[in-house]
Amino acid sequence: MYDQLSLNILDIGMNSIAAGATLVRITIIENTERDWLIIRVRDNGRGMDLKTLRRILATNASTKVHRRKPIGLGLALLRQTAEMCGGAFHVRSIPGAGTGVTASMRLSHVDRPPLGDLNATIVALCAVNQDVNIELRYQSNGQQFHFSSQEGKHHEPRRTQETQGQGAATSRAA
Ligand SMILES: Nc1ncnc2c1ncn2[C@@H]1O[C@H](COP(=O)(O)OP(=O)(O)O)[C@@H](O)[C@H]1O
Ligand SMILES: [Mg+2]
Repeated sequence: MYDQLSLNILDIGMNSIAAGATLVRITIIENTERDWLIIRVRDNGRGMDLKTLRRILATNASTKVHRRKPIGLGLALLRQTAEMCGGAFHVRSIPGAGTGVTASMRLSHVDRPPLGDLNATIVALCAVNQDVNIELRYQSNGQQFHFSSQEGKHHEPRRTQETQGQGAATSRAA
């Protein structure tokens, strides 16, 4: 498994962008009292049909390398982590509408990887395609933090290809 959950989240978020999503919503809920950590990534991408979904859910991360046609590790690793850490893993997908991946785990489980650098994950996802709305909803023991990469964007003047690099300077001068 990944030694930081944020890297696994990056992988799952990249799946969403690769699936043509314009919205990727990452929800993280930590609750010390209930000893839960819940990670959810929802997107409005192209989704998966039942056959693909079954194939992914049947994939065992540890036997993965022996497959002739590997299908990647992001989902299999998150599932492995969740199940190893006393939680569960679910994927819901509607072809043409979107996908939701949910992993839960015991916050205090000895094998639970640290969350790691979540900021770096968000920045990396935002950098892939600036038209994709990357949302983060982080809730820790009732305290909430929201981030949306598109927030306030529609108030800015439209940037052309040439001025893109000087965007910040241009809007300050205007
Ligand atoms: N959010 C998603 N939307 C549509 N298809 C997805 C999504 N996530 C995963 N998939 C499909 O499942 C496959 C396996 O994903 P993953 O386990 O992360 O491995 P990889 O991305 O390396 O292929 C992807 O290649 C893709 O076909
Ligand atoms: Mg992937």
